[in-house]
Amino acid sequence: MALIELNGIKKVYRHGDIETEILKGIDLKIERGEFIAIVGPSGSGKSTLLYILGLLDRPSSGSYLLEGKEVLKLSDDELSRLRADYIGFVFQAFYLIPYLTVLDNVLLPLQYLPRESRKKKFSNIQPEKFAEEILNRLGLSDRKNFKPEQLSGGQKQRTAIARALMNKPELILADEPTGQLDSASGKAVMEILKELHREGKTIIVVTHDKEVASYAQRIVEIKDGRIVRCSSSSKN
Ligand SMILES: Nc1ncnc2c1ncn2[C@@H]1O[C@H](COP(=O)(O)OP(=O)(O)O)[C@@H](O)[C@H]1O
Ligand SMILES: [Mg+2]
Repeated sequence: MALIELNGIKKVYRHGDIETEILKGIDLKIERGEFIAIVGPSGSGKSTLLYILGLLDRPSSGSYLLEGKEVLKLSDDELSRLRADYIGFVFQAFYLIPYLTVLDNVLLPLQYLPRESRKKKFSNIQPEKFAEEILNRLGLSDRKNFKPEQLSGGQKQRTAIARALMNKPELILADEPTGQLDSASGKAVMEILKELHREGKTIIVVTHDKEVASYAQRIVEIKDGRIVRCSSSSKN
């Protein structure tokens, strides 16, 4: 069974009498453990699709099966719980909480993890210990008590990745994760995603950077709200 199966996903925005169809019927199957890049011109609907995939937004119509289960029928609360359990999100603009330390930013998603999953996922390690392990792994242990404003762009994005990993998600979604980084920090971020993929995580990255897309196994090209091409990446 595919991890995710989208069928006929449409997204329409209304402004007064004017309707704009942003996604015009997206069909997409994503297998567990895949590394996918979603590419396409600015305004083509990439972020809209990623937000729908990440259960942050609902489509206007269509079907979204997560492990064979239709998630669009769920209530907002149920969606939030599912999101906390399954999905880690990384954004171009980091979205770290400015008044919290790096460590507390990383621990934040824990508050949204349903109690049952928390028991299961943290039966053999304390969450605080796990957060420190992730920070250590991402080369941030000496920054754990810093505030975001004291970090470089690359360190901010690595903190955001640490936060995305906190709830041990199946799926990591990243929207232009290197968009605000210099090329060396961007490469470091992509190497981390590549390593997470090797460890079995499913990764979906939205990008308009060919170099970033080349890390993926499969490239899905969107244009004007439709998938126009699906291809294997040359590198993998
Ligand atoms: N909340 C919204 N209301 C109206 N239009 C929106 C909204 N969000 C996005 N759009 C429009 O949807 C289109 C696709 O946006 P987006 O998914 O962000 O594209 P991309 O990420 O590919 O640049 C754009 O034309 C954008 O202006
Ligand atoms: Mg976008």
